[in-house]
Amino acid sequence: MIQEGITQISYLLGAALFIFSLRWLNRPETARKGVLAGVLGMAAAIFGTVITPEIVNYHWIALAAVAGILVGVPLSRVPLTAVPQRTAISHAFGGLAAGLVGTAKYIIWLEEDALTPVRVAVISLEIILGYLTFTGSLMAAGKLQEVIPTRPITYRGQNIVNFALLGIAIAAAIGLIIDPTAWHLFPIIIVLALVFGVMLIVPIGGADMPTVIALLNSYAGLAAVAMGFLLDNNLLIVAGALDGASGFILAVIMCKAMNRSFSNVMFGAFGQAPKAGAVATEAKPVKSAQAFEVADFLGQGSRVVIVPGYGMAVAQAQHRVREIYDQLTARGVEVLFAIHPVAGRMPGHMNVLLAEAEIPYDALVEMDDINPEMSQMDVCLVVGANDVVNPAARTVESSPIYGMPIIEADKAKLVVAIKRSMNTGFAGIDNALYTADNTLMVFGDAKKVLDDIASAMRGSSGH
Ligand code: TAP
Repeated sequence: MIQEGITQISYLLGAALFIFSLRWLNRPETARKGVLAGVLGMAAAIFGTVITPEIVNYHWIALAAVAGILVGVPLSRVPLTAVPQRTAISHAFGGLAAGLVGTAKYIIWLEEDALTPVRVAVISLEIILGYLTFTGSLMAAGKLQEVIPTRPITYRGQNIVNFALLGIAIAAAIGLIIDPTAWHLFPIIIVLALVFGVMLIVPIGGADMPTVIALLNSYAGLAAVAMGFLLDNNLLIVAGALDGASGFILAVIMCKAMNRSFSNVMFGAFGQAPKAGAVATEAKPVKSAQAFEVADFLGQGSRVVIVPGYGMAVAQAQHRVREIYDQLTARGVEVLFAIHPVAGRMPGHMNVLLAEAEIPYDALVEMDDINPEMSQMDVCLVVGANDVVNPAARTVESSPIYGMPIIEADKAKLVVAIKRSMNTGFAGIDNALYTADNTLMVFGDAKKVLDDIASAMRGSSGH
């Protein structure tokens, strides 16, 4: 009895810590506290579970803990740019765990003759969501890591085939609810869910993958809720619901930031158009500049805005950006950072990198706040950003990104864009910003170029 009480108190504590964790993770200032709260919440959850008297054998638990550590430690070491695929792998494990628990529960209750229609309904929900999340997340991780083709693969009647697969799985589940002992239906549901997970991701393009990962996150959460009901575990229900809701909210935020609807993401086959690659659509000449020239322009301005993008993350150039920021602010130049909600490859990607370089939070300005100011900016320094500053979103109706809100870098008096080549960004489309009359390109790795600019500035300030 006492043990049961301690378990429930641990679960309550765990649930509260998870809620605080999500709350604190909302802001960079409190994010560390948020991570700590999440870790403590999970520790409380594990503690509450391992002391339950029903556990008679700790060997399997110890084995699972060792396996989890062996997989978890290397997963925690991936670079920030690979976090979306890492997250997808975590969801795959979550989905698989839910699917396996549902399978085990079905077998145990079948043997004990304890299957009720409600139990079978919950198990069916859990295994469909769990197994489809498993294969869907693996596919998504594979696409993001480019171990499988990232382009959407589509064929006629694809949506019909996919919905038919899901429909048959649901029909089989209904059959099982009606007759819980019709065990031969069970593997059919599992196989259909596994196949459906793969088929769901096949038509989705690489560019939409982070959004899909957020959706899969919410499926994994719902599967965990079902698992919580099966195991009579309140904390799993709460944690699963938090996971499900936050994944869904994140997907909505991303869709909004890219001006895309859910159905468009899931069935729109974005990115299907052949990648334009280095082939420029217009033969307008590109004007390039040297680092020392850029140093001069920056130093002469009174307002400078820096737009970081995925390229800054790849080059790990945030500390060089900081150096430029320091030098300019020391000269009395106002420096702001324009943050696009989907710059990089995950929400908050740029905020995390800039925070790592200890750039003050109040220098970071959201897209909607910086755009009206853009025409007053003397220099807009674009560091490895492409799609999020592509004016085609405003002007080219046939563009796949038409309507997506962008940072209106092109409206600044002078634009300096740093990237290695004229290659396209994630969406695979050309960017007229780079050939605009007020744009200068500096080709090279962002870290190296910024280093050169910073030393040119140091040189000039020394005279
Ligand atoms: P991108 O459009 O992907 O462009 C990044 C640019 O950085 C590339 O054009 C690349 O050009 C350059 N680059 C790469 N490595 C570099 C290096 N070492 N040094 C200098 N430049 C380098 O990035 P973005 O503007 O940040 O846009 C993000 C994209 O991801 C959007 O399409 C967005 O919709 C998509 N997306 C993001 C999210 C989230 S949540 N962030 C979710 C879904 C989709 P070079 O190869 O010529 O160097």
